[in-house]
Amino acid sequence: MLKPRSGPVKSNFRYDIAIIGMGYVGLPTSLAFAETGLRVLGIELSERRIEAITDGHVDLLASDQERLSNARHNGLLTLSGDPALLAQAAAVIVCVPTPVDAYLVPDLSLLRAACATVVEHAVAEQVLILTSTSYVGSTRDLMVNPLVERGFTPGTDIFIAFSPERINPGAAGFAHEDVPRVVGGATPNCTAAAATIVGSYVTQIHPVSSMEAAEMTKLVENIFRAVNIALANEFADVSALLDLDVVEVINAAATKPYGFMPFLPGPGVGGHCIPCDPHYLLWQLHKERRSAPLIEQTMSLIAARPRHVVDRVRELLSAKGRGLTGTRVIVVGVAYKPDVEDVRESPALEVMSSLLHEGAIVAYYDPLCPHVRLHDGSMLASIGDPSEFGSDVAVIHTAHTGVDLGWLDDVDLVLDTSYSASSISHAVRL
Ligand SMILES: NC(=O)c1ccc[n+]([C@@H]2O[C@H](COP(=O)([O-])OP(=O)(O)OC[C@H]3O[C@@H](n4cnc5c(N)ncnc54)[C@H](O)[C@@H]3O)[C@@H](O)[C@H]2O)c1
Repeated sequence: MLKPRSGPVKSNFRYDIAIIGMGYVGLPTSLAFAETGLRVLGIELSERRIEAITDGHVDLLASDQERLSNARHNGLLTLSGDPALLAQAAAVIVCVPTPVDAYLVPDLSLLRAACATVVEHAVAEQVLILTSTSYVGSTRDLMVNPLVERGFTPGTDIFIAFSPERINPGAAGFAHEDVPRVVGGATPNCTAAAATIVGSYVTQIHPVSSMEAAEMTKLVENIFRAVNIALANEFADVSALLDLDVVEVINAAATKPYGFMPFLPGPGVGGHCIPCDPHYLLWQLHKERRSAPLIEQTMSLIAARPRHVVDRVRELLSAKGRGLTGTRVIVVGVAYKPDVEDVRESPALEVMSSLLHEGAIVAYYDPLCPHVRLHDGSMLASIGDPSEFGSDVAVIHTAHTGVDLGWLDDVDLVLDTSYSASSISHAVRL
């Protein structure tokens, strides 16, 4: 590990750092830089997002809320929709979304557009860092080659690197600055320059030999999680068959101090990483007419999990001599994980869409997510008082900290797909 030099980067540019994309990653990253005294420019396409940040109405950890109010107070964070300002920043960091489309094909349109903007406004001596998760070769294709075409020489008059983001939104366990960062540059000079920038707030930097190694590092990290979640789901099904408590078994295995890392089963995966990132690698391999069977299988199994939830609801009802049509089902917690407002790719959306499609009367309860858009485009609003819905079945999807689930005692059938609602004694597991 490199221990970065102490103290912030200071430069003759108007801004020390510009960050493109003020989302779940870009905003906390901007705040971490501003906290060190650097002058940060946040470039954001969405006027609504800029307004929400300016008003302080954003989904952030309490520690980041405090940083946001500090940054607003001391003027170190400037927000703008004008990409021409990028030329006034010593370093530019790209944090835009890299989703997949309905066919699970990487949607690179936002990343391509953001990189084209960076290339267009690049000036000599800038350090340009891509952090959005993407396929191996993205930084070379979208930044290095076009900048060389513009006449720049990486490592001499411009510095380009990939440094994957590892932020875990909503989780206060690891401070942003305490999570080591991997950096791979187009040349050793580029790696060193990017390490200095990222090292302004991160305490440990791990340099790798190339941008491609850094890109692949992020894919390995998230594919590792995907494979292990699929395995935990499979163990949940096998444990149920053998009448064992999968959580007890996984917790017991986790007492082994080496060679085991616990992953818990669930209703599927959501958010912007695990459902999307592995497809960037699979897509890239398809071009080579190659496959990665374990990863393909993992993603198919994970994608099937929300359907399994619906099958289980149908099975529980059938044991009582009922069907889904006309049955009142409430889904508890629709965010993709506890304590965040994020419903991107949340399995709850597919579960609710499928239940509605099968004729159930569906409501949901999630104080953190007042509205959601289902797959057919229709909107649903969280129910105010879940005890008044008259639920025949409750499906616990996400159990947020501090949300009272006591009312579930009065619901006859409770399916716990989160494997975490042990306080509801009559809940059955997925
Ligand atoms: N969210 C996570 O947990 C997480 C963790 C690690 C890595 N990542 C990766 O980080 C990247 C960003 O993810 P996110 O969750 O922050 O996305 P996000 O959707 O929360 O935010 C991205 C923001 O970028 C803005 N944007 C898009 N194109 C722009 C442009 N050309 N100029 C200015 N603004 C633009 C959007 O309006 C949006 O506000 C993705 O590649 C993701 O895979 C995400």
